[in-house]
Formats: sequence, structure tokens, C-alpha cells
Amino acid sequence: MHNENLEDVGTTESRDSVKDRYNRPILSLRISLTNRCNLNCLYCHHDGMLPSDDEMTVDEIYKILKIAKKLGIRKIRYSGGEPLLRMDIVQIIEKTASLDFDDISITTNGILLGKYAEDLKDAGLKRVNVSFDSLNNEVYHRITSKNLLNYAKEGIIRAAEVGLNPVKINMVIMNDINNNEIKDMFEFSKEHNLVLQLIELIKSDSCEDNTFSDEHYFPLTPLEKDLEDIADKTQVRKFMQNRKKFFIDDGEIEIVRPVDNTNFCQNCTRLRLTPEGKLKPCLLINDNLVDIVTPIRQGKSDIEIEKLFLDGINKRKPFHEKVEE
Ligand code: 5AD
Repeated sequence: MHNENLEDVGTTESRDSVKDRYNRPILSLRISLTNRCNLNCLYCHHDGMLPSDDEMTVDEIYKILKIAKKLGIRKIRYSGGEPLLRMDIVQIIEKTASLDFDDISITTNGILLGKYAEDLKDAGLKRVNVSFDSLNNEVYHRITSKNLLNYAKEGIIRAAEVGLNPVKINMVIMNDINNNEIKDMFEFSKEHNLVLQLIELIKSDSCEDNTFSDEHYFPLTPLEKDLEDIADKTQVRKFMQNRKKFFIDDGEIEIVRPVDNTNFCQNCTRLRLTPEGKLKPCLLINDNLVDIVTPIRQGKSDIEIEKLFLDGINKRKPFHEKVEE
């Protein structure tokens, strides 16, 4: 076994990027395009977003992206809800790609990837993460409450075929639901050149009932140890909360576990934007959002909008500060 301490691939110089009050460079913007979703997953935490029907238009998103680019943001990630439910998703990617960011990615459930993968790739999308928890029809239905397994599977295969790279599978491991499918999912991943991310279940307020996560929690630490023993090579992703990446038989597995707040916040270089156009300075804090779209709709000047963007960045704080307040 061979261990490497590697910095994240794609972590570039941060000198010319805007920094927050704690000297953390802002390198990536995660934009939630909609709260709508075509699945209804048992565990879904809705990415910390509150429900809303009000979505940003392509032009509004483009205006915000231009400011992000000017301030040195390098990476754009689109999420949801399900971002491919936006009829204008290809146009959104095209506009994003015209600004020459280092990385553009989407987190999707894959249902509509068969339809859009090629156009998205042509529009400038680099990679996708697909939430996909089971290869078994019944289990997939139990988790998502929809009979759409084949759409997701075909979508994933199509994404890899058209050259989106990497295509990562996000598999949330749940005890007594899909914990017996890890091997099958790894075989599927190797067959189609996908990276498998095993995700530890996090408690979610919106779970069907509150006992769900207690009942189905499946710790990934023991598995991580086993993988370390059998891996041909292990990497530690220093700027991704020390996540481990294992290379086994020409396949790749990553383990994603929730991290303690201090560590998470310390390395955080990410800003979020809600579907209704509010900058969300911190994932775990909900009372400091900055509405940036209403002023755009009111015709405020670019300078004023940029100032609001900077306000959002200045409101970022370490989570432990919030606890002490
Ligand atoms: N626990 C772990 N991961 C979750 N996700 C959503 N809800 C949870 C949860 N309760 C992650 C999954 C999914 C992505 C959209 O969000 O990885 O693929």
C-alpha cells in the first residue's frame, strides 16, 4: 500500500482571490438553481435550502457569475433540488462557460442526464456528481419513492460516454437499506469509469421521521480501515476535510463523512447562492443571508451589486463564533 498526502487536484493559487475577514479565500460558488425535485429521498437534507418557488433567471445568474469571476472565484457548482429540472440548464452552463472558470460541475440525480448529458458537455460542463444509492429496483424505489432507477442508470452511463470527467456516484450508505450493495456499486463504477463516493448518512430534519437516521446510520470508519488495507494506493485530500481516496483494482472510492464544524469552517472556501437569489455566507448559519437578486431586479448598478456580494463574503464566520454568541 502506498500513501500520499496530496493537495486537492484543482486547488490553485489563491493570491488574487477575494478573502473573507478570517483570511479564507473564496474560491468556489455553489448555486442552487431550484428547490424542485423529481425524487423524494428518505434522507434528503435539501442542501440546507428552505422551500421557495421563486427562481433566478439566466440573465440574473449571469450577472452574479460575472461578479464572482471578477472577485477571483474559480469554481462553479450547480445543485438543487434537481438542477436539470430547469428547462434552461444548457443555456445556464453555456453562459457560465463563457466566463472561463476553472471548473463547472453539477450535482444531479441523473434522471434527466440521458437527455441532457451531451448538450451539457458541449455547452462546457466539465463533470457531474450523481446521487445514486442503489442498483436494485425495489431498494431504489424505497429510497426515492420513484420507479426511475433505469433512467438514472442510463443517464450516468451516458454522462461517462460523452466525456464528462469525472462522473462521481454519490452513494449515501444506510444500514439495512443499501449497505449490502457497496461491492455491486463499485463493480458498476469500475465498468463505466466512475468514481464511487460513499457518503455517511447525516441526520436530517426533513427525514420521514426523526428515527430514520438513528435506525439506518451506518458508520463508515471501519470500512475506511478495511479499504486502506486492500487499496493499491491511498490519497488524503488535504483541502477537502482530509477525505480519503482509495485506488483499488483500477477503480476509485472516496469516503465522505461529516466533519466537525471547526475543521469544516477553517478550510471553507465556498460561498452559496439560494434558488431565490440570496447569498448564503455559511452552510450552517441561516440568519445572515444577503439578497442579491432583488436589487438586480430593481436595476441597481453593477457597483452596488458587487458591494452586496462583498457584504455576503464579509458576513462569513467560523461556526464556533456563532455558538459563543
Ligand atoms: N446524509 C448524507 N448525505 C446527504 N445528501 C443529502 N442528504 C443527505 C443526508 N441526510 C447528499 C447526498 C446527495 C447529495 C445531493 O446530498 O450525497 O447525493
